[in-house]
Amino acid sequence: MTSTPSDPGRPASAAAPGRANTPGGNTGRPPAAPTGPSSATDQRPRTGVWLIGARGSVATTVVAGAAALAAGLHPPTGLVTETEPFAGCGLPPLDRLVFGGHDIATCPLPKRAEALAVGGVLPPGLPAAVNADLAAADAAVRPGGPQPGDRRSEQELIDAFATDLGEFLTDHRLERAVVVNLASTEPTSEDEHRLPPSSLYAAAALRAGCPYVNFTPNTGLHHPRLTEAALGSGLPYAGRDGKTGQTLLRSVLAPMFAQRALDVRAWSGTNLLGGGDGAALADPSAAAAKNAGKARVLSDALPTEPQGVVHIDDVPAMGEWKTAWDHVAFDGFLGSRMILQTIWQGCDSALAAPLVLDLARLAAAAHSAGLSGPRPDLGFYFKDPDGGPAALAEQWQALCGFADRLRAAKPEADAVPEEDR
Ligand SMILES: NC(=O)c1ccc[n+]([C@@H]2O[C@H](COP(=O)([O-])OP(=O)(O)OC[C@H]3O[C@@H](n4cnc5c(N)ncnc54)[C@H](O)[C@@H]3O)[C@@H](O)[C@H]2O)c1
Repeated sequence: MTSTPSDPGRPASAAAPGRANTPGGNTGRPPAAPTGPSSATDQRPRTGVWLIGARGSVATTVVAGAAALAAGLHPPTGLVTETEPFAGCGLPPLDRLVFGGHDIATCPLPKRAEALAVGGVLPPGLPAAVNADLAAADAAVRPGGPQPGDRRSEQELIDAFATDLGEFLTDHRLERAVVVNLASTEPTSEDEHRLPPSSLYAAAALRAGCPYVNFTPNTGLHHPRLTEAALGSGLPYAGRDGKTGQTLLRSVLAPMFAQRALDVRAWSGTNLLGGGDGAALADPSAAAAKNAGKARVLSDALPTEPQGVVHIDDVPAMGEWKTAWDHVAFDGFLGSRMILQTIWQGCDSALAAPLVLDLARLAAAAHSAGLSGPRPDLGFYFKDPDGGPAALAEQWQALCGFADRLRAAKPEADAVPEEDR
């Protein structure tokens, strides 16, 4: 199957609703024995989670965290899909997730996890306890692109990425795989005709018949050249930019001001963060993409857009920790002037990782239930969602409604005959 430049992401064979993906490419090789310590005799279907930026901080925390929870080493704190409203939704169990992905970095996951433990992101001893899972995931990481000096065309890159995904599905005998973008924040592109790397990966996900989640502010499926292919793919997709700290708080507080008829005059914010994300966001063009999502929640939730901007400062000494300060100037009864200040101090990757696991499981279940297209019902997780309400409370209601839909669809999904899986 070839694609024309106007349909860069058209799936080779659109995934039939309610069915597992057809692997994007036949590798001509026999399937490899399932890898990972917990999978030797277990015949339950397995779901792939293909991480773009697979060796980054968030991705490493996702892989180590999933292994720790599956082994019962830690309680599922922060994992919304492990709470009661999501019981019986047909979500893939944590111990049946198989990880792989693309990255342009070469530091292997076990080593990256050791560095995160030294930095206090992962508990000491966890990298050793889940070393086999980290090594298994690292063995499934393929070189990303474009690498410096990469001369491959857009189509060649999309083909290569889709082939990697197809091999992942085949080699690990996966029921389906969800692609989650966790790569570095991209600078905004000057040339709107060219697909940025995040969109090349998103096109590859469509091509391989994989549900897609964009946890970054990057363009991904939001590129106009991919709109038609995405809508016609029969796949569920969601984004963008995980809502983990400052914007999470804004999506709770902004509706409160609106509902109490308080007049928010200015809402200013400053973020201090280190790590790879801090370094990437030191580029003003990359920070602009991030800040657009942070501002959107205010313009969506308040009757008038307040003054104020958001700053992001790279402070390498803070490592993986971030401090977000918000200053809200508002008027009360008879014009009395008041101020609210909030300080959020968090570990970036520990905030993000459970959301990534939630999203991968929900997107997999949506695919299994035959749901397709953009998923505004997952707006609870995003700064810049694909429609839906702006307030966290309403987003939570929408998410619970989504869980009900998955639960209602489950008997049908369960009825898919074994030979069709
Ligand atoms: N709380 C949070 O941590 C949070 C919240 C929302 C969004 N995000 C987003 O998640 C992303 C990851 O954050 P992080 O802290 O893990 O960053 P990180 O710098 O630790 O990891 C990013 C990874 O992406 C890889 N990468 C860069 N370009 C690539 C390409 N073309 N192909 C494949 N891989 C590529 C890098 O090599 C690196 O391993 C960022 O975009 C960030 O904005 C994070």
